[in-house]
Amino acid sequence: MVSPGVQQYGFFFQLPADICRRLNPVRGALLVNNTVVIGIQWGDEGKGKIVDWLAEKSDVVVRFQGGNNAGHTLVLDGKVFKLSMLPSGIVRPGKLNVIGNGVVLDPWSLFAEIDSVIEQGIKVSPENLVIADNTPLVLPLHRELDILREQRAGSSKIGTTGRGIGPTYEDKVARRAVRVADLGNQGSLDSMIGRLLDHHNVLRAGYGAVPVDGSRLKTELLSIAGRLLEFAGPVWRILSERAEQGKSILFEGAQGSLLDIDHGTYPFVTSSSTVAGAAAAGTGIAPGRLGYILGVCKAYTTRVGSGPFPTELSDKVAHHLATVGHERGTVTGRARRCGWFDAVLAGQVCKLAGVDGLALTKLDVLDSLETLKICTGYRLDGNIVDRLPATADEQGRLEPIYETLPGWEGSVASSRSIGDMPENARNYVARIEQLTGRPVNIISTSPDRLDTAAVSGPFA
Ligand code: GDP
Ligand code: IMO
Ligand code: MG
Repeated sequence: MVSPGVQQYGFFFQLPADICRRLNPVRGALLVNNTVVIGIQWGDEGKGKIVDWLAEKSDVVVRFQGGNNAGHTLVLDGKVFKLSMLPSGIVRPGKLNVIGNGVVLDPWSLFAEIDSVIEQGIKVSPENLVIADNTPLVLPLHRELDILREQRAGSSKIGTTGRGIGPTYEDKVARRAVRVADLGNQGSLDSMIGRLLDHHNVLRAGYGAVPVDGSRLKTELLSIAGRLLEFAGPVWRILSERAEQGKSILFEGAQGSLLDIDHGTYPFVTSSSTVAGAAAAGTGIAPGRLGYILGVCKAYTTRVGSGPFPTELSDKVAHHLATVGHERGTVTGRARRCGWFDAVLAGQVCKLAGVDGLALTKLDVLDSLETLKICTGYRLDGNIVDRLPATADEQGRLEPIYETLPGWEGSVASSRSIGDMPENARNYVARIEQLTGRPVNIISTSPDRLDTAAVSGPFA
């Protein structure tokens, strides 16, 4: 029961009503308008499902980082869409979908994806898809380099998706990337390719790979130029105009904050900035226009690829999470590693990624587990640690400290309201709020779009 003068803000949070009144006029106009959705674990939190659900009330859906290493799954009325490059708003008629400059774009993979969703009955044209003209391109040589490096690294490999994401970001920062608009300027394309291959062919020789032929690469690029350029535009200006018109823009993060190039479990990370601030740099929208920041997390934890994972399990609970949760990578089909919810990492990420509230997914996967554990701290060399240390070596030696909570009888699967859920499930959610310091605004209880409960905050 909420007392007068206090507003319920999530299950655990009760803010004094006068604070709510002061908060809302300040951020209220922006709160729902330009929501930024990010993953706060190691990716695959269910961002695609949440973005699709939120897209109903948005005008524009924007990807701002990552590339086709992402795999976002949408389930609409039993029909499954697996999107890698296309923003999740693409399945809803009348929405503008935008790929921002912070993304790295593999045009061949994009066209295959467009063709596949068109086959599934979705309309894709320059009317509902715009790509920033300054977006760097992922080329076949980037994919090859990604794979060559991983093969050479052997057991110390990162476990990348092999999509050429890292090598393309390297070329972007080294100022030798070919970008979308360059395909329309044949005059300078020769010199750009020359500059790119000066670097890559030396590198390839070191790996024993055959050199890339510049004129062949140019022919390949020109063969896709026409189709790609149809979608190209000044994204920074389009978003600025839409924002000024009061349109609602939804930013769709890829990967997760623990894979962030700066804040993640380096070097076992992806090569882009995955925190909310990247939405501004990765599109050209003013940072002050970014509204509510929604962090998506699973009710437990998963990770694909190598790297530290303090709460990883290998027992029958791991088997339960992997099988009931269908934990297999959307992009590469690899088995995802599974473990308990890590509140230390989630709480840390909420602070550094600027998360205002949480969307908790896959709560249904915990149905029928007798007891549940949440990591509330670590032991490292005999000391208690309450944050992720900066080195992979220390991260790899963390021993989780757990709190045990009772599981629940019955099921939360397909619940669309918090009132339908067993008390112990509600207590589990409330404990996550307490430990992370953020309200749970949305709870997802099945892959289906409609099995989503808005329980508090701006979406309720
Ligand atoms: P993303 O990369 O963050 O968009 O997540 P993925 O699509 O790679 O992985 C999430 C998986 O969980 C997908 O197969 C979703 O269909 C599924 N999923 C999302 N939310 C729920 C949920 O609440 N319950 C269950 N059982 N599955 C879910
Ligand atoms: P979504 O958007 C889960 C992981 C890879 C690898 C590391 C680096 O679906 O959540 P990369 O190919 O990016 O250089 O690989 O990052 N990774 C993801 N893991 N979900 C993703 O995307 C991922 N994108 C990259 O497994 O460990
Ligand atoms: Mg995914």
